[in-house]
Amino acid sequence: MINEVKKIACVGSGLVGQGWASLFALAGYKVTLVDVNEKVLGDALERTKSKMRFLEEAGLAKGAERASKRLSTTTNMAEAVGGADFVQESVFESYPAKKEVYAKMDETANRRVILSSSSSGLMMSEIQKAAKRHPERCIVSHPWNPSYLVPLVEISPGNLTSQETVKKTYELMENIGKVPVVLKKEVPGFIANRLSAALWREALNLVDMGVASVEDVDKAIVNGPGLRWAIMGPYLTYHLGGGRGGIEYLLKHIDVSKAKWLETMAKWTETPESAVQKAIEGVHELPSVKSHSYDELEEWRDGLMVDILRSRNKRVG
Ligand SMILES: NC(=O)c1ccc[n+]([C@@H]2O[C@H](COP(=O)([O-])OP(=O)(O)OC[C@H]3O[C@@H](n4cnc5c(N)ncnc54)[C@H](O)[C@@H]3O)[C@@H](O)[C@H]2O)c1
Repeated sequence: MINEVKKIACVGSGLVGQGWASLFALAGYKVTLVDVNEKVLGDALERTKSKMRFLEEAGLAKGAERASKRLSTTTNMAEAVGGADFVQESVFESYPAKKEVYAKMDETANRRVILSSSSSGLMMSEIQKAAKRHPERCIVSHPWNPSYLVPLVEISPGNLTSQETVKKTYELMENIGKVPVVLKKEVPGFIANRLSAALWREALNLVDMGVASVEDVDKAIVNGPGLRWAIMGPYLTYHLGGGRGGIEYLLKHIDVSKAKWLETMAKWTETPESAVQKAIEGVHELPSVKSHSYDELEEWRDGLMVDILRSRNKRVG
């Protein structure tokens, strides 16, 4: 598969499409960014190049200048998809938008070309209904923001997706330096967004209940569990939390008294308006948000993330 793919179409050139384009181009693929108008594409091209320069300056990639020459843009989706060996779709997150694009891509792409979606949590089983000709080549490959830096990609096949599509997508993702995980069963939100949603609901709830400020909830994560999460997941974390008795000791003797915590946690599925308001007010009161622009904060985040990625190369597991 890796050798078969030379040209990739990135359909949708927003934040996520740009991240994909930079990684594909740096890995040696010819990339066409597709979007609805030239102005959006011009901006996307510049941002993609700047991400590649950033990755090179950070020592995480080489050849940004050469890779820039492998980038092109077009508003003609049929032409780009028709000439591609792999397609990564990153348009708006809704079933109607995705289905409309999948119906068109399925008509024009060569039948062996994989149509991979960046969807953050939609089910491929639903999207691929629109790809009437070859639904078996449709799959979700969900990146995490900032997608040019965060290694995770969640591969979620629909019920009509072939095993060959899963395997080839996995290989391609590994080839561009991603760390893929594959869902064994399809669920909305995949793995990491579900875990993230559980935490986010409780973060909103703690502020809404008046238990803590937005600033202190963020501080608690960054200076506590967040430090561990950059190097190990919840299972290994709790295995070490059980002392020498490990996960068995933790589950049977330590982790048995959380009923009261769980009973008092949020259970809602729609964020209450009061929580929305308090979150917005609280974020705008954060010292970092008051004293820095969005771009400055993004740059600061990316710089620290590079440091973490570099030090993780020295890790044990
Ligand atoms: N933003 C994130 O943090 C993030 C992370 C992972 C995955 N995603 C997913 O990636 C996808 C894109 O998200 P984003 O944040 O880049 O959105 P975005 O709004 O920044 O970009 C979407 C782009 O798609 C273009 N578009 C819409 N319809 C199109 C069409 N028919 N043909 C060509 N281009 C079209 C839009 O003009 C826009 O430029 C969504 O499915 C989203 O859920 C987002």
